[in-house]
Amino acid sequence: MKIFLALCLVATALAVEDVLRGVLKSPRETLQLYGSFKAKEHLKYAASEDRMRFRLFRANAQFVASANEEESGAVFGLNFFSAMTEDEKQQYLGLNVTGHGENPFHVSSSPSKVPERILWTDSSQVTAVKNQGSCGSCWTFGAVGGLETRYQQVSGKLRNFAEQEYLDCVYEGSRNGCNGGWPSDCYEYSKKNGGRLASTANYPYAAKDGSCTGSSRPDAMIAAKIIGFMDVSPSEKANIEALAEGSLSVAFQVTNYFQQYRGGVINDNTCTGRPNHAVTAVGYTPSFVLVKNSWGSSWGDKGFVKFARGYPEDCGLFKYSSYPRLEATGVKDTHPKDAATTYKPSEDDDVNPDPQPDPNCEDVAVNCEKYYCQWSNIAEKYCRKTCELCNDGDGGDCPSGTIRCDDGICRHEHMC
Ligand SMILES: *[C@@H]1O[C@H](CO)[C@@H](O)[C@H](O)[C@H]1NC(C)=O
Repeated sequence: MKIFLALCLVATALAVEDVLRGVLKSPRETLQLYGSFKAKEHLKYAASEDRMRFRLFRANAQFVASANEEESGAVFGLNFFSAMTEDEKQQYLGLNVTGHGENPFHVSSSPSKVPERILWTDSSQVTAVKNQGSCGSCWTFGAVGGLETRYQQVSGKLRNFAEQEYLDCVYEGSRNGCNGGWPSDCYEYSKKNGGRLASTANYPYAAKDGSCTGSSRPDAMIAAKIIGFMDVSPSEKANIEALAEGSLSVAFQVTNYFQQYRGGVINDNTCTGRPNHAVTAVGYTPSFVLVKNSWGSSWGDKGFVKFARGYPEDCGLFKYSSYPRLEATGVKDTHPKDAATTYKPSEDDDVNPDPQPDPNCEDVAVNCEKYYCQWSNIAEKYCRKTCELCNDGDGGDCPSGTIRCDDGICRHEHMC
């Protein structure tokens, strides 16, 4: 009995308390945190609604703190989901699996050898992170993401293609695209329409289903046409092989953990076998599969997420993947290319890739926010860098070969 107790104490002592735990223990400070959270997220509620939102927020903040204390390899944080109801959160998804099973297994003819890592983001072959807003149109973003890298490979041009054409046109007249859909239906629509798809510039995203005006917008599929699609065999190996060739539309199950993801490598074991979201896989390394989400670049790791290799089966990550089949037209695409994402994942520093050579001035917590700095104990104990406490005192001397940059951190001069 004594031994058992002692072991428990050791285990408790090892768990690192989340940066927000102290605040959440005090009702007054929790309310204060809620106020700052609303200011940061630009949320305003009527007095009658505010109490309900506060309760949602407090429960979410406690969930985030506990999730971080689990020390799973991923980091979780407060974000725009933190005061939403479950119904509201659903509107940011949009995979309608009705009538779709897992992909069939194909027998692969030859065991293919793939590179150890490929990150299409590193070679400027992935467009910037987009934002679906509160419309269940993830399926259009997954499909367009699966196309963009592959079109770039054929044409030499990274183009930003139009989710809105798919949203308006794929289920035109039959149902509202914001209520959900299926990515490969997008490729089928293009195939039936001469392989076409507009650019986002010519068919901007509106976050609501409108009437289809595809035929009156210029076709941006110049150097290649979409002639159909391929379903990827439902195994991680087959997905990696397909990803070694280009981006993929993939689907999986979003859970509470996923919604609050802030960085690191996630390995979610709370899935229940119900896929509900489509996204784009844009690379892999031996330790993660890199995915671009469509919730803006303030969500997650600059809009991206790293899924652990060997991701739990129940999340379905490798079971519903597809990509478009392209046929080169021989016509040169002379349009200016669209912007590539500037995000470059680094395996060595999964959560915060900024250089921080001064060992005395780092955030101890990985989920610091500027508005936590109002608590001096959090600022000093966990978030020195975020709270700009690096210049305390005279700052001291920088290590040789470095200088003190304006932000108070020692770096090589050219990195300031
Ligand atoms: C989901 O898909 C099924 C089959 O295609 C369709 O009948 C149904 O209307 C869709 N649900 C919604 C909410 O659009």
